[in-house]
Amino acid sequence: MPFAYIKEGNNYKYLVDGKWVFSSSEKTIGINSPVDNSLLGKIQAVNQKEVDNVLSTAKKAQKKWAELPVSARAEILNKASELLSKNKEVIANQLIKEIAKARSLSITEVERTADLIRSTAEEGLRMNGELLEGECFYKCERKKRALVGRVPIGVVLAISPFNYPVNLSCSKIAPALIAGNSVVLKPSTQGAISVLHIAELFLEAGVPPGVLNVVTGNSSEIGDYLVKHKDVDMIAFTGSTKVGKRIANLAGMKHLLLELGGKDAVIVLEDADLDLAVRECVSGCFSYSGQRCTAVKRIILINSIADKFIDKFVKEADKLKHGKPEEDAYITPLINNEAADNIQELIDDANNNGAKKLMCKFRERNFWGATIFDNVTSKCRLYHEEQFGPVAVIIRIKDEKEAIKVANDSEYGLQTGIFTNNINKAFDIASKLEVGTVQINGRSDRGPDNFPFSCIKSSGIGTQGIKYSIEAMTRIKSTVLNLPS
Ligand code: NAP
Ligand code: G3P
Repeated sequence: MPFAYIKEGNNYKYLVDGKWVFSSSEKTIGINSPVDNSLLGKIQAVNQKEVDNVLSTAKKAQKKWAELPVSARAEILNKASELLSKNKEVIANQLIKEIAKARSLSITEVERTADLIRSTAEEGLRMNGELLEGECFYKCERKKRALVGRVPIGVVLAISPFNYPVNLSCSKIAPALIAGNSVVLKPSTQGAISVLHIAELFLEAGVPPGVLNVVTGNSSEIGDYLVKHKDVDMIAFTGSTKVGKRIANLAGMKHLLLELGGKDAVIVLEDADLDLAVRECVSGCFSYSGQRCTAVKRIILINSIADKFIDKFVKEADKLKHGKPEEDAYITPLINNEAADNIQELIDDANNNGAKKLMCKFRERNFWGATIFDNVTSKCRLYHEEQFGPVAVIIRIKDEKEAIKVANDSEYGLQTGIFTNNINKAFDIASKLEVGTVQINGRSDRGPDNFPFSCIKSSGIGTQGIKYSIEAMTRIKSTVLNLPS
């Protein structure tokens, strides 16, 4: 019976050494739904002493796990992927309630993650090394051969955010495990219940005790403590730039993979297919109420087509269904009141600094309706800061040169989209954009999950994506054979 062990009554447990347990702190954190504020359950507030125990367990378990053949680890991951598919309705229902994600998007998050785990298992089987010959190098007088392979890093501390609790936990767990690492996962507090369900499926699939552990609790008590802990060898973090920078400062010599905030732009040129650009910008700005790192956070329009684009864009945005995630509304409540207050501040600032409000449907507590601002300039906070809500920001420019300048005028560097029917122009502009990925004729988008997802500037460090994540979660080890000359 899946999920029988993860809670008693309304109290969820944490996972250590293959066992679901209550914290000795006897403290819990209530998780309420952003949809109707109902109590969904209570999670454990794990303390620092328990963190020590979890990490020493993970450290011990890692050695044996790494000795298993990769095919055996792949078999377990494949089983986890199957179980996730089998339980997709249960997990999706949890996402709907816990993070107010629309039904179809919740199902997609689970299905996409099952695919990610299976593909990671498959990719792990191709984790081959190489043989280097020394003689081909300048003045290497002896015959030398280097056997170069990949070995696990050790204990990976995975920290995931609220907006994709399932996908962004598993995109760390799966590559870490296939590569022979053990994992201590600290999910975001809002989203933690969904993640506990996932962890149970990995156990059921056969992940041995101690290889995957999940701690829940207050970041103020265990966040820095986990990050600085001597038994952590690598930190894979997804979340805000503010927390990411703090982690980078505290981590010392640990391996780091950081996916942080974004301010993705799309540039719409004069010769673009405007209907396509409008469609992609509507879903880019408003899908999951704009709570995606890769949401379209700036629309950069050449003046000559701006009015035509805006006319179509406003009409399409006006049709979006606002409401409950279980009814599959397009725009659903934000994660909490603070997120909504932050948007209020950005909007007040835009109003005070010359931007033109084209739409602002409503605000009710943590629920914002679709909002559109035109004529946003660098005087406005909306030009610079991540809105993380259903707010479209339109910036008008005179030509392509200015478009590139404005797109690059950001502390962030995830993705930029270019809409044009001139492929040569698209490639030329792409080469000048300071981001990890350029999308031609498409909105910014992380997936498919086998594509590299590179984070530059304040958007992070490193590259994720199935093969790239496995590489990041291994280190190169060489054994050199010195042959008789
Ligand atoms: P967040 O507030 O930074 O939290 C992310 C995670 O860090 C949560 O698990 C949080 O736990 C934990 N945390 C907070 N303080 C910590 C500390 N001192 N030490 C260790 N962990 C700590 O981000 P969020 O609000 O969940 O997510 C939204 C942000 O994530 C946005 O900025 C978005 O752009 C970014 N994001 C980026 C990507 C990407 O791929 N680049 C993808 C998704 C989201 P608690 O919940 O318990 O505080
Ligand atoms: O913000 C989460 C990030 O992973 C975005 O994913 O697929 O919505 O672009 P996606």
